[in-house]
Amino acid sequence: MVIPSLIQHKRDGRALTADNWAQLVWAYTSGKIPDYQISALLMAVFFRGMSPEELAALTDAMIASGDSMEWDGLGMPVVDKHSTGGVGDKVSLLLAPMVASCGVAVPMMSGRGLGHTGGTIDKLESIPGFRTGLTMRETRAQVERIGCAMIGQTPQIAPADRKLYALRDVTGTVESIPLISASIMSKKLAEGLDGLVLDVKTGSGAFMPELERSIELARTMIALGEVRGCPTMALVTAMDRPLGRACGHTLEVEEAIEGLRGGGPPDLMEVTYALGAEMLVQAGVEPDQAGARTRLEESVSSGRALETFGRVIEAQGGSPAVLEDPGILPQAGAVEVYRAWRDGIVSGVEPHRIGRGILELGGGRRTVEDHIDPTVGFVLTVKPGDKVRRGDPIASVFARDEAGIPIGMAALEVAITIGDSGKLTPLISHRITAAGVEPLAAG
Ligand code: URA
Repeated sequence: MVIPSLIQHKRDGRALTADNWAQLVWAYTSGKIPDYQISALLMAVFFRGMSPEELAALTDAMIASGDSMEWDGLGMPVVDKHSTGGVGDKVSLLLAPMVASCGVAVPMMSGRGLGHTGGTIDKLESIPGFRTGLTMRETRAQVERIGCAMIGQTPQIAPADRKLYALRDVTGTVESIPLISASIMSKKLAEGLDGLVLDVKTGSGAFMPELERSIELARTMIALGEVRGCPTMALVTAMDRPLGRACGHTLEVEEAIEGLRGGGPPDLMEVTYALGAEMLVQAGVEPDQAGARTRLEESVSSGRALETFGRVIEAQGGSPAVLEDPGILPQAGAVEVYRAWRDGIVSGVEPHRIGRGILELGGGRRTVEDHIDPTVGFVLTVKPGDKVRRGDPIASVFARDEAGIPIGMAALEVAITIGDSGKLTPLISHRITAAGVEPLAAG
């Protein structure tokens, strides 16, 4: 295999064979191809795309780079959800314990931050002691006991994606339908699921900002799942503003805990319940979304979902005391309120700028080796369409120290626009299954 020729082939818009992809993935995962050559190949894919045959071969090779989980004898359906990535998207933190406490096994396998978006694994690791690197055996044992594990990719599960994901994060090759699809579906299919629910983000803070491309991404992933025997569906949800109020690792864990206590922001709870209802229906434990939603709401109001989260935290090495006292999470060294500079209507809260702001404050990675500061971020208390008066507190900056405050303030100045009009786009705009695309009236 002559790597430069394969890169040139792809660069010139020609398809590689299934065999080429299998060998490339195997060789890269085994450390036989350097990052710089795979970076060039990823960039060629970014610009040239992939044929359906290439995408299938890449996905299969990524699954085959590791082992697959098996759930024989578990006695519970096994379902997961995955998001294409957003800002303030802490849904997984609430959803996994909620769904697990309704009798469905959730081996929630998530990623780290990617580009301007935050990753569930980084958020969980802001809980002191929380261990996300469980082995497959540990994961299975925990799911048997608690119904839920919240893990990163172990070296055993789709290790090719683990390497490629980290490389894409720092080489400008994230926003590609085939690369996102292969990344998400390889790890999800290796989980051996009975069903998968996808949260496909759309809007300026999503990797696919245009609705048509978001729908294409959803359909590509659904096709990959269905052909491989995993019932897969998607909801298309808004990412033209951050989800919820908190953006940043510990801040989002705190907001997730608030949500599991029944006090989360309405948009966060709406997306979480909608995805959770799809998971319960897909798992076959509820016949329809309405019943599933009631059951999920009860899991929160009864305290069962919160208790399940506590058991997960304890099982994975963290202290469940964080649920009673989120103040034990590491805290920012400096906090400052940001105020509206005029009367008017919020016309935009730009998630991409917020995500970049977190990066600038030290909460993201610029290179694969970077360590992140979990304490930094923003709390945004307005949404597009909200009326504000000059001087109203509309956001807060959380920085490592005083030096970070102007950096955060500068990000907010660009991210939050106030004008004479503004409105909220629908929160959940489409439901997509193998049967087709259904626009949803409810927003
Ligand atoms: N989430 C993933 O797991 N992979 C991507 O490429 C994008 C979002």
